Amino acid sequence: KDIDIIVFDEIDSTNTEAKRRLYSREVKDFTVIVSDMQRGGRGRTGKTFKSPKGSGVYFSIILHPKEFFDFSFFDLITVKAAVSVLQGIKESTGKEPQIKWVNDLFLKGKKICGILSELDADFESRSVKSVIVGIGINVNKPEDDSFKELKDIAGYIETDTIRNEILSSILNAFYENNYRKKDHEIIDYYKKHSLVIGRELSFELNGKKYSAKGIDINEKGNLIVDTGEEKITLSSGEVSIKGD
Ligand code: BTN
Repeated sequence: KDIDIIVFDEIDSTNTEAKRRLYSREVKDFTVIVSDMQRGGRGRTGKTFKSPKGSGVYFSIILHPKEFFDFSFFDLITVKAAVSVLQGIKESTGKEPQIKWVNDLFLKGKKICGILSELDADFESRSVKSVIVGIGINVNKPEDDSFKELKDIAGYIETDTIRNEILSSILNAFYENNYRKKDHEIIDYYKKHSLVIGRELSFELNGKKYSAKGIDINEKGNLIVDTGEEKITLSSGEVSIKGD
């Protein structure tokens, strides 16, 4: 597939640029916005995502097909993104991260990648007009000390592989996973590389704190946990791994 890749030296946020483009002009399906640094990289739950110059891969993929897609398409998009990043990193660098549900990638106990998916949808008709999948990867330690206060939680791939090669491997994997692979193959791969299955977890649900063991990921990418008394299916949110 021939795709548009738009490259910036610096930008506020590639996800924000993707939105600006969607509202102001025709955007081809599978357009990619990539930047060498972001002044205001955005993470989930309103957090910032540190994006120092020259040390990471920061990009957004815009999915904007001619026909709107059904909501069910979105269920798996974050799972597909996480699996694609993992496969792309593995293919280009030989390193094999693990996925912490929903879609953070960890290597040697530290987070090396976060994904922020945003959608433009009509909730009444359950149709999705476009999806922006924003991916940020810490490739090598930056020269400045921008990660100082995150040193216990943020890691890096640490590789000699050039960043463009990592990006192109991920884009190829994402294309394959979206258009060629069966959903169950992707879920199987996700499960094999999951950091939370078989582990004791803690999380909050409707204001209540729980401890439970991660037991499975279902066909929608939801996490199933067992408290000992009941099984709970989590469709979104954050879990912590005990002992880490
Ligand atoms: C998270 O871990 O909470 C998600 C982080 C997502 C960061 C990426 S970097 C490229 C894209 N542009 C952004 O502003 N955010 C995403």
